[in-house]
Amino acid sequence: MLADPSPPPKFTHLKDYRPPSFEIEEVYLTIELHNTRTKVLTRLSIRKLEEVEDVFLHGRELVPREVKINGRTLDSSEFQVDTEGLTIYGIPDRMVLETECLLNPEANERLEGLYKSGDIFCTQCEPEGFRGISFFLDRPDAMSIFKTKIIADKKRYPILLSNGNPIASGELEGGKHFVLWEDPFKKPSYLFALVAGDLGLVQSEFTTKSRRKIDLRIYVEKGNEHLCTHAMNSLKKAMKWEENRFSLEYDLDIYMIVAVDSFNTGAMENKGLNIFNSSCILADSQTATDRDFLKIEAIVAHEYFHNWTGNRVTCRDWFQLTLKEGLTVFRDQEFSSDLHSRAVERIENVLTLREYQFPEDQGPMAHPIKPSRYLEVNNFYTSTVYEKGAEVVRMIHTILGEKGFQRGMVKYFELYDGMGVTTDDFVDAMSRGNDLLNLDQFKRWYFQGGTPQVNVHTTYDEKNATLSLSLEQSCPPTPGQDHKLPFHIPLGLGLIGADGSEIPLKLIKSTARQPFLREGVINMQGEKETFVFGGVTSRPVVSLNRHFTAPIMVHLPMSTEDWVHLLAHDTDEFNRYEASQVLGKRIVNHLLERNHRGEEMAVEEAYFRAYEMLLKAENLEDSAKALCLSLPSERALHQGHNPIAIEDIFLMRKFLKRMLAERFKGIWEKIYEETNSVESKDYGVDVRDVGKRALKNCALSYLSELGTEESDTLTYNHFKNATNMTDSLTALGLLCHRETPYREIALREFFNRWKNQTLVMQKWLSVQAASNLPRTFDDVLALKKSDIYDETIPNLFRALVGRFSSNYIHIHHESGRGYVFLADEIIQMDKMNPLIASHLACAFRDFNRLPGIKKEMMEQELRRILASKGLSKNTFEIVDKILH
Ligand code: TRP
Ligand code: ZN
Repeated sequence: MLADPSPPPKFTHLKDYRPPSFEIEEVYLTIELHNTRTKVLTRLSIRKLEEVEDVFLHGRELVPREVKINGRTLDSSEFQVDTEGLTIYGIPDRMVLETECLLNPEANERLEGLYKSGDIFCTQCEPEGFRGISFFLDRPDAMSIFKTKIIADKKRYPILLSNGNPIASGELEGGKHFVLWEDPFKKPSYLFALVAGDLGLVQSEFTTKSRRKIDLRIYVEKGNEHLCTHAMNSLKKAMKWEENRFSLEYDLDIYMIVAVDSFNTGAMENKGLNIFNSSCILADSQTATDRDFLKIEAIVAHEYFHNWTGNRVTCRDWFQLTLKEGLTVFRDQEFSSDLHSRAVERIENVLTLREYQFPEDQGPMAHPIKPSRYLEVNNFYTSTVYEKGAEVVRMIHTILGEKGFQRGMVKYFELYDGMGVTTDDFVDAMSRGNDLLNLDQFKRWYFQGGTPQVNVHTTYDEKNATLSLSLEQSCPPTPGQDHKLPFHIPLGLGLIGADGSEIPLKLIKSTARQPFLREGVINMQGEKETFVFGGVTSRPVVSLNRHFTAPIMVHLPMSTEDWVHLLAHDTDEFNRYEASQVLGKRIVNHLLERNHRGEEMAVEEAYFRAYEMLLKAENLEDSAKALCLSLPSERALHQGHNPIAIEDIFLMRKFLKRMLAERFKGIWEKIYEETNSVESKDYGVDVRDVGKRALKNCALSYLSELGTEESDTLTYNHFKNATNMTDSLTALGLLCHRETPYREIALREFFNRWKNQTLVMQKWLSVQAASNLPRTFDDVLALKKSDIYDETIPNLFRALVGRFSSNYIHIHHESGRGYVFLADEIIQMDKMNPLIASHLACAFRDFNRLPGIKKEMMEQELRRILASKGLSKNTFEIVDKILH
């Protein structure tokens, strides 16, 4: 037997939460920056809250050069340091504790704590990065006033930033200078930030509702200033929107954003000093797609909204992460809905939920939005905590209505401003703002994981003109939770008559305690509920979970004809989209079954009729239409299959796409011509322009599927004549799937034009990593060696290796080489950046649903990862869960 090389896992449990036994009232940091020897002097004013003998301060691999209490240097018997932190024995009730440590930011490849992104010093402290900078009580319920003095070489680092306001600055000897920052708001250490560099500045101003002028600043690498207009406008829109809809105003005089190239995620809401991945700030029509524009707007808003939901009211502990993330994602989704198309925003949010969160729920890492334990907290920044968390907040909004929800928010800030609180506190505030409405059952959404399933049974009684709707809910077991109690589920509902008109809902009787929440929303609280509606004079088609009011799976035994009826007539645009996807999924699944039986492949005519109707529909926005015309993704199709037939699903989906392309060639061409001719010179990202481009590129993607010389030429011309990145990148991506000389030509042209812009090169890598062609595996290996690639920059790693990890036919190649490749990448990355490595390890999540031989090959690689020396607990936790 081999000895287990991994360390014994030490879980942190929610039930073990204890409030801190002392507080740090003030922090004074003096940080003298140096690439390899940064000096951090920390002065803490500590006050005991309980009778304790010792204090423990977190510190990750920190070596103190000196520890002082009230000016007296401690000798080595008075304290102890290990890899987790510093313990000081026998402390007075109040003291000033001083520590001095040396850091090496240049060697920091984790991009956590203080590190360098190119020539810029920057920090990332959420969730536990601050303990890599200084000894501290690094937990979100420990809040302090921070003063930060930054010292650095003036020539190389003319700009020195931290949270709050600059209160002093000056010259120092040896060509150095300093700036002293003070943040007047108490905050936890995870919101601390520091930036130093020779940065370009874009400045603007915002006047708040109460007529305060806010200085808005975006700092970027010099030369990129012209790419900040969109981000700045987005920030102002977010500020205005939050004032209007939530009556919340910004609270400091200055709001700063810094964009850096090396960043683990999208962005971080540090108080008064957001730090962003440059891909979430920089944009113009030449280099960014419509998707990028909308993403930037949403992320800028998201981080801004955190100022109230996250910073002013923060989390008591990291099990409460969804308190700030679920709520803030809900708010940024509402912002985008109010600014653009509510229906399209909803469709896209649900698409993301289903592509990322539903598979999480079905896999080994399934967890409730409020987990009960973790090994590594970084592994819980998941789609479940973020996106499902937002759905749970949205259900509260559906239950209370906008006015009631806003009353709850007012209560929330009234009760908890300046505090670290729990998700229970949030729900209680919602209840207290709404005449103590009982939300106890609703709270199950926080601690029960898994996707609830609702089975629907309808009975139509023609004689009495009634429709009876029987609903039964259940929830599949998830790790550690075999049995679940019924959820409180709000369900949007409509009945569509045979003539296509909406039948008014007249409830005759129901088992539900409170059957109607409001017009069109029924309330399910029991395991089984029945609702009987009257005045239903023709057999209706049921439109359920309209607007996706609940994050569940609905099982409606409905014929293809009925779905087509919904697709044609539903007034709820989300459910029209839903119908298009259910139909697409159904057809692919039928093809799969027939294929296995060796039958000839034919598609029901009803589907084609529906599709044609959709193509010609005039009562759908262009963006929504493009979404409805797109087939469910491979990822979406994998769901519900066990084992997952990776290749067959890919082939059948492609087969269907080709069939739709051929059958409707004429209509696609017409759509393409109509939408292609209207491209205005002034590029805009309003609903109309974005929609036109979405529909145009959807048409192009079908036409390209024809795979003729004519269609390849069309695609290449689209690329060549593109006046914006949306068009250019779509065409390039399509050419990448084609064995045509145009492929190389377009890739080369694109490279030559953009080789000096790393954000665009990330796209160039991605389209190649996403290619269906057999050459892709070799291409990825070759691209790893190219000059523009640098695996230490997460954006580049994600663009190439990350994108390839969801190229299913290649990852699951019969030779097993895809698994070997991924395992190598994970093992190697884990030594540099465990956060990025553990994220990639999630690509193995479908392990249990793979067919035999693939599963064996994958298992071998998972075991190899687990056996690798010095594996981080980040990656260990993920791989261990997949295997066991
Ligand atoms: N709080 C950030 C957000 O949602 C998330 C985040 C930024 C993060 N950087 C991180 C999470 C690093 C974990 C690690 O906006
Ligand atoms: Zn967030």
